[in-house]
Amino acid sequence: MSTLASKRMIRALAKEQLDRPPFWLMRQAGRYLPEYRQTRADAGSFLDLCYNPKLAEEVTLQPLRRYDMDAAILFADILLIPDALGQPLAYKEGEGPVLEAVRSAKELSSLSFDNLHKVLNPVYETVDRLSSSLPSHCTLIGFAGAPWTVATYMVEGRGSKDYVNIKKWIYSDPDGFQELMEILIRSTTEYLLHQIKAGAEVVQIFDTWAGVLPDEEFARWVTEPTRRIVEAIRREHPGFPIIGFPKGAGGNLMDYVQKTGIDAVSLDTAAPLDWAATEIQPHVTVQGNLDPILLVTGGQKMVDRIHHILKTFSNGSHIFNLGHGIIPQTPPENVALLAETLHNYNS
Ligand code: CP3
Repeated sequence: MSTLASKRMIRALAKEQLDRPPFWLMRQAGRYLPEYRQTRADAGSFLDLCYNPKLAEEVTLQPLRRYDMDAAILFADILLIPDALGQPLAYKEGEGPVLEAVRSAKELSSLSFDNLHKVLNPVYETVDRLSSSLPSHCTLIGFAGAPWTVATYMVEGRGSKDYVNIKKWIYSDPDGFQELMEILIRSTTEYLLHQIKAGAEVVQIFDTWAGVLPDEEFARWVTEPTRRIVEAIRREHPGFPIIGFPKGAGGNLMDYVQKTGIDAVSLDTAAPLDWAATEIQPHVTVQGNLDPILLVTGGQKMVDRIHHILKTFSNGSHIFNLGHGIIPQTPPENVALLAETLHNYNS
């Protein structure tokens, strides 16, 4: 067996059922780790950290020095795409990302593909470095935001509660909004293909705000753009493993799974386990879905829930993860307890 095929993560994505599932955690590199906070301070700003291959490699490796995870996710951010398209972006302390909003098809002329890969090149270099520095059993995951979620930030100009600007746009001028989606489908596809060329072994597509759309809009702006990206990647790399994370998809999840062609779906915290095991897991590998707040709580309550998730998904292929990213308040020792619980598990 080749080393790639023997990695636990790759085997789970090939729908193999394993003695214990591979695990990694969304946002496993980040502010809950003191060494991350130090490196981020050294880098100056969050964007400087993302565009510094040596430091981005360092923060990607930091959680692996503490915990024996089966995969590492490239350190970057989903909003590097708008940045590379020329939309001014800043991460403000306590506020999150702030962008100069684009709200109509006319305003799209301010975006350009000209510098896309020149700006993103440091990210490809980070992937390249990681592909030789990662422990041999560890899988390298590349990622991008899905067009819909990236568009929410581009149109709202920041995180949003009601998505009123982007929804007004899709309802009043869907063809104009489609132009923005075409820009994002193209740049996201190229971005992921460059990551794959640099050494990413799996990619995950984050659609964090998929859950705010009614069904027909979900099909058009979440499922269809993702399907096109998956298809374009597979045209160049047949069978390449892809994970989708349509957070909050609820009853739209099955349609997403069947139409996009992804190999695994990352389940959010609210996805009911028994339903996911009977309805979703027969079609694709399931990833997830411990509540990140249980990782803040820790103790026996967390261990019991981990066991329950493992048991419920033990009749098919499963990648253990959270239902959303680790939050900064998480005690690192609780992550150690999670890792120990998973390593000691044997179905
Ligand atoms: O370890 C990893 O998961 C890899 C790196 C990663 C980051 N962001 C680093 C980051 C990944 C995969 C992301 C994805 C991302 N970024 C998503 C989708 C997944 C999700 O969590 O919903 C979204 C919506 C973003 C956009 C984004 N980036 C927001 C809204 C924020 C501010 C909120 C926050 O958590 O601070 C960021 C900043 C960000 N991205 C940080 C990190 C470690 C914190 C920045 C800091 O160090 O100050």
